[in-house]
Amino acid sequence: MSRLDSFIRRLTAQKRLLEDVAGRIPGIDGCVLEVGLGNGRTYDHLREILPEREIFVFDRDLSCHPSCMPDGEHMILGEIRDTLAYCGPRVKTQAALIHADIGSGDPTTDLATSSWLSPLVDARAAPGGYVLSGLPLDLPSFEAFPMPEGIRPGRYNLYRKPL
Ligand SMILES: C[S@@+](CC[C@H](N)C(=O)[O-])C[C@H]1O[C@@H](n2cnc3c(N)ncnc32)[C@H](O)[C@@H]1O
Repeated sequence: MSRLDSFIRRLTAQKRLLEDVAGRIPGIDGCVLEVGLGNGRTYDHLREILPEREIFVFDRDLSCHPSCMPDGEHMILGEIRDTLAYCGPRVKTQAALIHADIGSGDPTTDLATSSWLSPLVDARAAPGGYVLSGLPLDLPSFEAFPMPEGIRPGRYNLYRKPL
């Protein structure tokens, strides 16, 4: 498969899954965490499909499209390993949805990321909350969901924290 095809499939999967999970969380209190702002595409989609939710965004850089800039209260700048661990004073609720898109494509870096990210995600997720991640995470107490039809298993990962 060409890189263009792979990129299109990845973005298609992100959009479908974000919309799928947005439809599952109406009964779950809490904010949304966007872990990895990047260009701001998925952040922009999240704020469009979940307009009533408070969304906090994490990245070490602010390199998004100007129309996708979070406000200063909701943009948490720095290394996610630190900011997600110590964001409690700003992010006062647990998260109904965490979307993490910080894969590097390098298997060693991604394994290391997954190992420090998993416990931080576990700590920030609300009971019944959902985690959507490009990288597989080690969340043994969570329920892993199969991908909806048409999305290749392993392309993205969906978990739910038990109530
Ligand atoms: C693939 S991009 C996110 C793309 C985004 N979902 C979008 O739709 O535009 C990943 C982002 O995560 C950030 N990132 C990756 N690892 C990070 C880390 N350990 N700490 C802080 N930011 C990180 C990068 O700076 C980059 O902006």
